[in-house]
Amino acid sequence: MSALQPGHRSEAVAIAAERRWAWVVGAIVALLVAMMIVTGLHWAAMPPSRVETVDVKTLHVKGEFVEGNLGTAVGPDGKVTVRLVAQQYSFQPQCIVVPVDTPVTFRATSTDAIHGFIIGTTNANTMLVPGFVSTFTTSFRKTGESLMPCHEYCGTGHEAMWARVQVLAADDFLAQSRAGERLSCVAR
Ligand code: CUA
Repeated sequence: MSALQPGHRSEAVAIAAERRWAWVVGAIVALLVAMMIVTGLHWAAMPPSRVETVDVKTLHVKGEFVEGNLGTAVGPDGKVTVRLVAQQYSFQPQCIVVPVDTPVTFRATSTDAIHGFIIGTTNANTMLVPGFVSTFTTSFRKTGESLMPCHEYCGTGHEAMWARVQVLAADDFLAQSRAGERLSCVAR
């Protein structure tokens, strides 16, 4: 047979179109995977490490997240830990102080809905889920103040829910910190 029948020709056109579309979709998938790899490595995204639970009902009265224990603590070994609690629609404490160029471990949870936070343009970024302790360790490269907004929609007051983070020079931070005390700054 020298020429294709009309039915065969339209089938060939359809197959060519399918193949072209398969290449386009394949390219889009490859682009998205490449974006995930680049952003993950370039922004040093931190995957969740493990599961740690906490009792929401007794959070305020006993244990690690009582009000007097919130804020920045410097341990006997010099390790810096920030403890905070999120609730509709604020963070406690409202203003957080940390030293620059020092590993800082955050430990945080929520008392009601799912919240979350991100600190300025740093890689400090986590969800806060009631009943679970979110934790990560990061260092801040620049001194200065950053906003720390809630980034999980948590209700009508969501967009007004944020705290501030002050990154201090290591000397200034140490001058403020006293053994056993919890540091925070004044909310504005
Ligand atoms: Cu808390 Cu949005």
